[in-house]
Amino acid sequence: MATGKIKVRNAQKPNDVIYTPKSVAELMIDLCDIKPTDKVLDPSRGGGVFLDNFPECIKDYCEITEDKDFFKYDKEVDIIVGNPPYSLWTKWLQHTIKLNPNKFCYIFGVYNFTPPRLQKIFDAGYKLLKLHIIKINWWFSTSFICIFEKCDGENVITITAKPILCECGKNHHKCKRGRTQTINGVKKKYGMNECPNLIVNSSLDLVEDHEV
Ligand SMILES: C[S@@+](CC[C@H](N)C(=O)[O-])C[C@H]1O[C@@H](n2cnc3c(N)ncnc32)[C@H](O)[C@@H]1O
Repeated sequence: MATGKIKVRNAQKPNDVIYTPKSVAELMIDLCDIKPTDKVLDPSRGGGVFLDNFPECIKDYCEITEDKDFFKYDKEVDIIVGNPPYSLWTKWLQHTIKLNPNKFCYIFGVYNFTPPRLQKIFDAGYKLLKLHIIKINWWFSTSFICIFEKCDGENVITITAKPILCECGKNHHKCKRGRTQTINGVKKKYGMNECPNLIVNSSLDLVEDHEV
């Protein structure tokens, strides 16, 4: 008798299948300023809220559940607009850049809108043309609707792609500033303005803290 767990292959992560409200998709489409001769791609169709609301243009779409994988898409395209699966952001942006659209518009959660990703977009010659900030009540965080375009002129934002390190020079995992450290079973919580690597005799500190 067969027992045990059944492995679901190619199952999607729940956060990768979150549909966009129609009013937000319409706003994003409006911001793209689509012309009838533009080749426009909805890269992750889902229920079709983008594709079904495109104005007159040359439309196309991808959707993995219909075996139309965005990562295999290689046709010429002028504009890409949609809401991609969140767990694939970095790879998704790489493929977007590879397709070389003149313009693309995505909605990012605050935590997905990271300096290294932006740096890659800017390095590929895109500028952030428009940024619209919006809160969708049942989504996890505030969202940024961004339109990137290959165009002349100054980029409106600049970024520092590398994270700022504590003065001790150690990375996030090795610097315990603002975090708890356990040494010899003794727990110590450091304040946000306190780095144990910069405290002389920090082990003595820990012993004293334990004895109190
Ligand atoms: C966040 S949902 C958004 C759906 C729709 N665009 C919307 O905004 O309502 C992401 C969609 O991407 C699809 N998807 C995931 N991986 C994909 C891939 N490699 N190629 C195309 N679509 C993909 C999922 O099935 C899902 O429908």
